This record gives sequence, C-alpha cells and structure tokens, in this order.
Amino acid sequence: MIIYKRLWPTHSTDYRDHLMRLTPDQRHYRFGGMVDDGFLDRKTGDIDWLRCLAFGCFVDGVMRGAVFIIRAHNGWLDEAELAITVEAPFEGSGIGTQLMRRATNIARNRGVARVTLFCLSDNFRLMALARKFDPTMTIDHGDAELTVDLGPATQISYAEEALGLLETGISSFYEQFGAKAA
Ligand SMILES: CC(C)(COP(=O)(O)OP(=O)(O)OC[C@H]1O[C@@H](n2cnc3c(N)ncnc32)[C@H](O)[C@@H]1OP(=O)(O)O)[C@@H](O)C(=O)NCCC(=O)NCCS
Repeated sequence: MIIYKRLWPTHSTDYRDHLMRLTPDQRHYRFGGMVDDGFLDRKTGDIDWLRCLAFGCFVDGVMRGAVFIIRAHNGWLDEAELAITVEAPFEGSGIGTQLMRRATNIARNRGVARVTLFCLSDNFRLMALARKFDPTMTIDHGDAELTVDLGPATQISYAEEALGLLETGISSFYEQFGAKAA
C-alpha cells in the first residue's frame, strides 16, 4: 500500500534510512557531491523541523520517497527551498510528482509564494518532474536553479490539502489490516 504522509521529527530515523538507500549517483544529485552514511546521519540529526514542511511516501510501511520544503534563512517568510528524493527501484512511477504536488500545495496554504530547487544541470529526471510545475530556470556552470511560483492559497488548494489528509487517514486505516501495495 502506498501512503503519503506529513513528516514530523519522529520520522527522522525513517528519513535517514531512506537517504542511506539512495544510490551513489542519487546522493550526488541530491547533495551535489559524494556523501557517505556518516554525512547522512549528521544531516538528518541536524534538521530544523520548525522551518520545514515535509512529506514522505511510504510503500508497505517503508519510506521510499521524501520531499522537504525549507523556509529561507533570509527572513523572507514567503520563500523556500525544495529538496526531493525517491529511491531508485521506485523512480519513474510518479512518486516524485505526487510528493512535489502535495508539498507545494501545503506550502502555498502556509503563505509560501515561491519555492526554488537547486540541482546539477544534468539532472534531467528532476527537470522533467519540475517542468510539470512551470518553473523559471537558470543554468550557470553546471548548476541549475528552478523557481516555481505558487500563487496565493485558494479554496481549491485548501480543499486539496483536506482531501490529502482524508486519503492518508483512510489508507492508514486499511494498512492496519495488512493491505499491501499492488
Ligand atoms: C528526481 C527524483 C525525485 C524524481 O522522482 P520520480 O519518482 O522518478 O519522479 P516521477 O516519476 O514523478 O517523474 C520523473 C519524470 O522524469 C522522467 N524521466 C525519467 N528518466 C528520465 C531521463 N533520463 N531524462 C529525462 N526525463 C526522465 C519521467 O518520464 C518522469 O516524467 P513523466 O511523468 O512526464 O513521464 C528522483 O529521480 C531522485 O530522487 N533523484 C535523485 C535525487 C535528486 O536528484 N533530487 C533532486 C535534487 S534536490
């Protein structure tokens, strides 16, 4: 069973284990360099959860994808950075798109007007995903910056958030009885 859930500090270990299952190439794309398990352990221990809005994708109870929207340090409450990961065996099945849709919607409902994704300019998979959200893109010396304007919250964006919560609740209920992903 596939469940998308908001992430909280209690999910730190799930998130660390998820990051540790990324391939070396994926770690390179996510962190802009080769990183070892110790780095990932420290990184997840240092998350400032008060500045984050995060979602995870759990497949049969194991976190296989995650997205973090991190509010900018510069004092602008309406700007944030987005970081996303999906484990290799689960790529290409729409999990990244679902995560990004949910995270940008909830960010919009919390007053975030713009999210920026930083990536390497050969990260074609991320670019294909981000294109669905109509970003403006700048590329400079191998680094790409993709900015998505979210616009103000609307009744539809609030309704989407509520439907997402309802879906999580119903899926979690059925998961207790052993429902599995197809
Ligand atoms: C980027 C990432 C999150 C995408 O997750 P995902 O679950 O595969 O995303 P989706 O399946 O929703 O969409 C991927 C899109 O890329 C496309 N794609 C796949 N391989 C591709 C390639 N080699 N070149 C171009 N596009 C490609 C897919 O067709 C899909 O587009 P579509 O839905 O229009 O068909 C995942 O690949 C990942 O974790 N990469 C490593 C970490 C990373 O780069 N993070 C981003 C930096 S923060």
